[in-house]
This record gives sequence, C-alpha cells and structure tokens, in this order.
Amino acid sequence: MRTLRLGLLGCGTVGSGVVQLIHQRAERFRALGIQIELMGVLVRDLQRPRAVQPDLPLTTDASFVPDCEVLVEVMGGVERPLALCRDHLLAGKPLVSANKAMLAERWSELRPYAERGQLHYEASVMAGTPVLGPLSTTLRASRVTHLEALLNATCTFILGRMEAGEDYLIALREAQHLGYAEEDPTLDVSGVDAAQKLVILARLVADPAFGLGQVQCEGIDALPAGFFAEAHKAGERVRLVAELTQDVCGWQARVSPRRLPATHPFCAPGAGRNALRLQGEGCGELYFAGASAGGLVTASAVVGDLLSAVSGVPGHRPLPTGA
Ligand code: NAP
Ligand code: HSE
Repeated sequence: MRTLRLGLLGCGTVGSGVVQLIHQRAERFRALGIQIELMGVLVRDLQRPRAVQPDLPLTTDASFVPDCEVLVEVMGGVERPLALCRDHLLAGKPLVSANKAMLAERWSELRPYAERGQLHYEASVMAGTPVLGPLSTTLRASRVTHLEALLNATCTFILGRMEAGEDYLIALREAQHLGYAEEDPTLDVSGVDAAQKLVILARLVADPAFGLGQVQCEGIDALPAGFFAEAHKAGERVRLVAELTQDVCGWQARVSPRRLPATHPFCAPGAGRNALRLQGEGCGELYFAGASAGGLVTASAVVGDLLSAVSGVPGHRPLPTGA
C-alpha cells in the first residue's frame, strides 16, 4: 500500500463533500493500492463551524502545499488559487479543480498543463453530471456542430421558483442556502458563471484557444420589463440558455435568457439540475441531464477525478491544436 500525499484547498460546500467522500470511498483508493494522507486543508477562518471530522488538518497556512503529490482546489477565486497551484503545476504534478472562473480566465497559463493531462476539472461544468469526460475522450471521433445547455443551477432554480410565484430575491436566497450559488451570486445571475462554463466546453469541442471575451453574455438579473410575465402568460418558461453554434463567420457563443415552450426538455430538469444537448457528425444528438450544483454531487466529480489522477489517467485535454 502506497501513501499518497494530498492537499485540499478549500473546505466549504464542495470541500466538505470531498472530505466526506474520500473517507467513504477509502476502499476504492485501497483497491488501487493507495492510502490518502491529507497533508493540509486550507481555509480562511478556522473558527467557522463546518460539518467535518474534528481531526481534519484545517489550516490557514499554505506551507503544506509543496509537499503534496496531488492538489484538489475547491476554494474559488482566480489569482489566489492560481498562485497556490503554480509551483505544483510547474513540477508536473496533477491538479483537480472545480474552479471554472480560474480555468476560464487564466487559460493562457493553464492551457499547457491541460494539454499535458495534468488538469482534471470535470466538476467545473455541470458538477456531478459528467460531460467533460465524454467530450474530451469518446466524442473526439465526432465533430460537434451545435451545443446548447442550461449551465447555471442557481438560475434554473430561481426561474423555476418564480414560475411557482416566488419572488426573485427570496429564490436567490434559497439557492444560496442550498449551496448552489457562488460566493458572489452576481456571477450566477449575470450569466458570467454560465459563460465561464461555456468557454470550457468550447475549448474541448470547438477551439482550444476559445476566450471568455468571445461569449456574448446576458443574465437573468436584468430581464426586460414584462419578459418573464409575458412568457408565463403564454404558457412558456424562461431559462438561461448557453449556446455554441457555427456559422460562416466561425464559432458563436452566447448566454441569454430565452422563452421556451413548456414541453422543451430544458424545462423539465428541476431544482439543482441542468441539461446539455449537442449535435455532432458521428455521435448524432446527445442529451445529458442531472444534478449540477451542491456539495456532495460536485464532490462526486472531484473525487472521481482524483481517482483518475492517482491511477495515472490524464485529465481533460482541450481539442488538439490544428483540429
Ligand atoms: P465555498 O462554500 O465558499 O467554499 C470555499 C472554501 O475555500 C471555504 O472553505 C473557504 O474558507 C476557502 N477559501 C476561499 N478563499 C480562500 C483563501 N483566499 N484562502 C484560504 N481559503 C479560502 O465555495 P464552494 O461552493 O465550495 O465552491 C468551491 C469551488 O467549487 C468554486 O470554484 C466554485 O465555483 C466551484 N463549484 C461549486 C459548486 C457548488 O455547487 N457549490 C459546483 C461546481 C463548482 P472558509 O471556509 O474559511 O471561508
Ligand atoms: N453556482 C453554480 C451554479 C454552481 O449555480 O451552477 C455549480 O457550478
């Protein structure tokens, strides 16, 4: 049995789930001949109450990071996590991350590591519903021509609650309470979180250099007056739809609130669930749907990635250059 030195950056909604699942799935690691040694669990506030075992090595001191063979980053933000992970990546070691903001915004630095298979980031898009894995492996033999998706669970949740007559702000607070929303929920309701996820998808199926600035983005925080009420009156639903299409000018990426017939499959998923539909030459039409936010379900993708990383399976590689 080999001991694997693991570092965990963040122990909030997702990080607590990661700790719980690593413990519950210890036999899966043992089956690979691995026993996890948690070198440190980085947080900001040691006094904050959290539902984790008391012997967890919680710390505000990141000096354990260089001793780790694998890092799991579930802290959020952009500059701080990147600064903490930089030397680890430079040393050629694997990083598992759920952080779509860092991936979307610092791609020029992260892309070479992703190309080398050092970055595992399934949880960053649709949390525990696996889409990045298939897109970066099995579906490489197909050519994706169109992709549309609900990528932000907070918005899907809020819009669903508003259909039931609830107030926007109360629904947003509920989404925060359920652990769906980002620390700064403006990222959710403005469409930025969905745009960050769309750009991650686009790099796997369209263009490995796809930039966040290429996504046209509108959220649900500034719906035109009457937009929701008129849709409701017409028996339609409103959903925040992310779409990637190709036309004569190249790839177009857009996140926007759209009116959809109530029978549209995107109106079915339900609280905390999202969906992705793609069309490809080869694979035909595919539909993915499932839980897309929340602690344990997101942790399931993070720990799945961790099992891959410790088995030597490469992470999510962008579309090869020149494809
Ligand atoms: P969270 O509940 O706010 O937890 C963040 C954790 O990171 C907390 O433990 C916090 O410490 C720690 N942290 C943040 N900034 C830090 C800093 N500068 N130094 C040290 N520790 C720091 O967030 P979360 O919901 O778990 O999300 C974590 C990441 O997963 C984000 O990138 C998010 O976008 C992504 N994600 C979340 C979900 C979801 O459903 N929640 C789904 C997919 C992806 P304290 O506990 O001391 O405050
Ligand atoms: N805030 C995100 C959402 C979490 O609501 O979809 C999952 O990435």
